[in-house]
Amino acid sequence: MRIGPYTLRNRLIVAPMAGVTDRPFRMLCKRLGAGHAVSEMITANAMLYGTDKTRRRANFEGELAPVSVQIAGSDPAQLAEAARHNVAAGAQIIDINMGCPAKKVCNVLAGSALLQDEDRVARILEAVVAAVDVPVTLKTRLGFKNGEENILRVARIAEQAGIAALALHGRTREDMYNGSARYELIGEVKRLLKIPVIANGDIDSPEKARAVLAATGADAIMIGRAAQGRPWIFREIDHFLSTGEHLPPPRVDEIRAILVEHLEDHYRFHGEYSGCRIARKHIAWYTSGLKGSNEFRQAMYRLDSTATQLAAVEQYFAGLAAESERLCYEPSARLAA
Ligand SMILES: Cc1cc2nc3c(=O)[nH]c(=O)nc-3n(C[C@H](O)[C@H](O)[C@H](O)COP(=O)(O)O)c2cc1C
Repeated sequence: MRIGPYTLRNRLIVAPMAGVTDRPFRMLCKRLGAGHAVSEMITANAMLYGTDKTRRRANFEGELAPVSVQIAGSDPAQLAEAARHNVAAGAQIIDINMGCPAKKVCNVLAGSALLQDEDRVARILEAVVAAVDVPVTLKTRLGFKNGEENILRVARIAEQAGIAALALHGRTREDMYNGSARYELIGEVKRLLKIPVIANGDIDSPEKARAVLAATGADAIMIGRAAQGRPWIFREIDHFLSTGEHLPPPRVDEIRAILVEHLEDHYRFHGEYSGCRIARKHIAWYTSGLKGSNEFRQAMYRLDSTATQLAAVEQYFAGLAAESERLCYEPSARLAA
């Protein structure tokens, strides 16, 4: 799988998720088997470049190449400027967000709302491709409304504009996250285009990964929600795709080690106040499905320093280990938690 001059290590990509796929999480996923990752979306509005949030989102120090940075906006000139700004800051690939369904984003005609205006799509893609020397990729959905899916036209526009790869979530804006992702149209797009196509939506197991690759013929797959609290899903899928066999699930002591590594990097990156608050959801995801995790999470949410939070995590896992050293993590147990 290639994006411009970059050959990816495998066909597994971490989906951009605002508030989740910050640099520590992307680096961890890459260490645990992801071949590539895309940053959280960064606003194209230059007025916000100086805010703490935007500066953190545009920090890629130490990240394994190629560094892909997603930008979001609606104005071609502003997006072109944002692309130049992020390339100057270290981005090696620019990704354009035309998939976000959030009201906050769509109300200003950005994210998936752009799919309603194909002329503007073309102007944005051409402006960004012309603005930078690095590959530009596009992430989008099947269309805005059900019954009016225009992805085949948008895909052609993207290829003609010089987009280097297209990531496609198999839902419309109208679907939000409801129902199941539809893969047939992703397959049609793949057959239509020469550039690499990346299939996205509801991939949460090695079997599903293999099935989506087979159903769509896509060059790669992108995984979002299933990686939350489970960054090792990439090595599990990678192993299964290359051998047809499953890796054993991680032991609880390994989950502890991965979570602690994640938290230490996360605290360094976000600092004391935000570090503690943003970490809560990650800790909740990692521990979901493990014994006694509901009570642990309720108590953990009340802690307001990184030191007490980390100590609580260590204590919780020490309790689990004392109970059963060989206790294994079972993804299916999450549902019962
Ligand atoms: C919390 C969250 C934040 C997201 N933020 C972004 C984003 O910043 N940019 C984007 O293109 N997609 C974003 N998405 C969409 C995901 O990249 C992905 O397309 C979607 O979750 C479907 O894939 P999945 O079923 O593997 O989760 C977000 C999704 C979630 C759940």
